[in-house]
Amino acid sequence: MSSIEQPLITLALSKGRIFEDTVPLLEAAGIQVPENPESSRKLILATSNPYLRLLVVRASDVPTYVQYGAADIGIAGKDILYEHSKEHPGGLYQPIDLDIAKCRLSVAVRKGFDYEGAVKKGARLRVATKYVNVAREHFARKGVYVDIIKLYGSMELAPLVGLADAIVDVVSTGGTLRANDLVEVEDVWPVSSRLIVNQASLKTKGQYLQPLIDAFAKASQGNS
Ligand code: ADP
Ligand code: PRP
Ligand code: MG
Repeated sequence: MSSIEQPLITLALSKGRIFEDTVPLLEAAGIQVPENPESSRKLILATSNPYLRLLVVRASDVPTYVQYGAADIGIAGKDILYEHSKEHPGGLYQPIDLDIAKCRLSVAVRKGFDYEGAVKKGARLRVATKYVNVAREHFARKGVYVDIIKLYGSMELAPLVGLADAIVDVVSTGGTLRANDLVEVEDVWPVSSRLIVNQASLKTKGQYLQPLIDAFAKASQGNS
């Protein structure tokens, strides 16, 4: 009888809010993470489970690591997953919504800008966003002509300096919009973070991945 050694499972996630919300889910599954990526410069973190390690990557890179199999499993926001799927369709299995890092994608404009009036008039709007596919589809659905300007962060600045009429960005408390004299004019969709799994890993390591997926599902039930 041959004994098969337990394989290493690699989980990709971003530091900051996703890491912080994931640690309690891992702990509920009996897994401790001794190092914190905010204080350590290490990009590969061991866990108390010798068969599970964490990769600390940029939030928008998580789907890429999982799609190529450099990580078996990952955690990323619906916003990131949607944009990634438009550029690289297929390959990622999304078994559960972890209900962490909750926010919403919204359209916002400078206070005083007559958004409804501009839309009614059929004006062409300049929209700055990191979510180019979400934005293009949202305005196409509304029948609004837009020029999309791709940015990588601090979208709130764009309407303040005349780069754009509107932004599409994630909003949670609304504090960043308020601090920059912007107002939300449309809700696009609610966002939370999901578990994603490499399809090949699921086939070859399913016996070990499934209990972890089940533990995440159970631990995240309290978040909804
Ligand atoms: P980055 O800004 O580098 O993309 P974040 O850690 O800020 O990384 O965001 C990771 C994910 O968390 C986002 O893709 C989104 O789903 C969610 N998110 C972003 N901002 C907020 C927020 N203010 N409150 C709650 N969730 C957020
Ligand atoms: C995110 C997002 C918004 C802000 C919204 O920024 O890009 O700017 O949160 O949250 P609020 O509605 O609660 O203010 P983040 O804190 O991730 O900073 P970042 O620019 O480093 O991504
Ligand atoms: Mg951020």
